[in-house]
Amino acid sequence: MSSINELYPLPNSNEHIPRLGFGVYRSPASQCVKSVHRALEVGYRHIDTAQLYGNEAEVGEALRTANVPREEVFLTTKILVPAGSPEATYEKLVESVEKVTGPGGYVDLFLIHSSKSGPAGRKHLWQALEKLQAEGKTKSIGVSNFGVQQIEEMRAYAKVWPPQVNQIELHPWCQQLEIDAYCKRNGIIVEAYSPIVRNYKANNPTLLEVSKKYNKTTQQVLIRYALQKGWVPLPKSDDPERIAANADVFDFKLSAEDMDVLNSLDQGAEGAIVEAVVNE
Ligand SMILES: NC(=O)c1ccc[n+]([C@@H]2O[C@H](COP(=O)([O-])OP(=O)(O)OC[C@H]3O[C@@H](n4cnc5c(N)ncnc54)[C@H](OP(=O)(O)O)[C@@H]3O)[C@@H](O)[C@H]2O)c1
Repeated sequence: MSSINELYPLPNSNEHIPRLGFGVYRSPASQCVKSVHRALEVGYRHIDTAQLYGNEAEVGEALRTANVPREEVFLTTKILVPAGSPEATYEKLVESVEKVTGPGGYVDLFLIHSSKSGPAGRKHLWQALEKLQAEGKTKSIGVSNFGVQQIEEMRAYAKVWPPQVNQIELHPWCQQLEIDAYCKRNGIIVEAYSPIVRNYKANNPTLLEVSKKYNKTTQQVLIRYALQKGWVPLPKSDDPERIAANADVFDFKLSAEDMDVLNSLDQGAEGAIVEAVVNE
């Protein structure tokens, strides 16, 4: 049985990533410090924020005031779009690092948040991230919402290839089989965002039936499913009880038959609630 402390090695490096993360999208600044403290208290050691979420500083405050050493926590942030010049983009990255971990600090993973900046924008963002990594301000770099061609296209200019992580929407209704298989073939760690489908599927009869069998909640079954698919799920909650319950997924294992039952729910891109990647 796996545990919350289990790690995956990141490609082409000595770094490791915890197999379960804690998301803070839509965690308001006034609540975020409390939620991150609670997450660390119940054992999460991996926090996922972004410039877009407007709570990098609060995540940083939570880390500084928690009873857990900085180096024991894996911290991710993301940049959405390039600034006007490579220098300005690089400055935006450094600003984030300083917000989260203070001057002289580092983040563990910095991602390009979206593939929507076009080929030139993606190249510009990646080169700024490579510089940040070379300077030790981020340990690892990766992408989010990237499809197969967008990662392939990076080979032409990337000094660091493959990207170490691709963070995409993943749950039984949106399994993104092509990009998942491509990432796994290339050693790219696949992170699952919206792993509990924002709770929209809590009343799904198939999911309820599986959950009953294991005496677990539907949310716990979805997080366990993601772990067994080899993904790194990033469930978000601002509720102290739910934060703990979402991490209580290491005392049971879904059978191969029940994994198949959940696999059969796939609706392809139609099943996405945020977005599915474009592979061509
Ligand atoms: N890269 C990207 O483009 C991207 C996009 C989306 C998300 N993300 C990342 O992935 C993380 C997770 O995705 P997400 O926030 O979209 O969705 P999610 O984790 O699937 O669901 C979060 C929602 O479910 C509720 N919830 C959580 N645990 C619950 C439980 N045990 N029972 C009932 N309701 C529960 C939460 O409400 P409460 O807070 O009230 O518990 C919240 O409304 C984000 O926080 C972010 O870090 C990345």
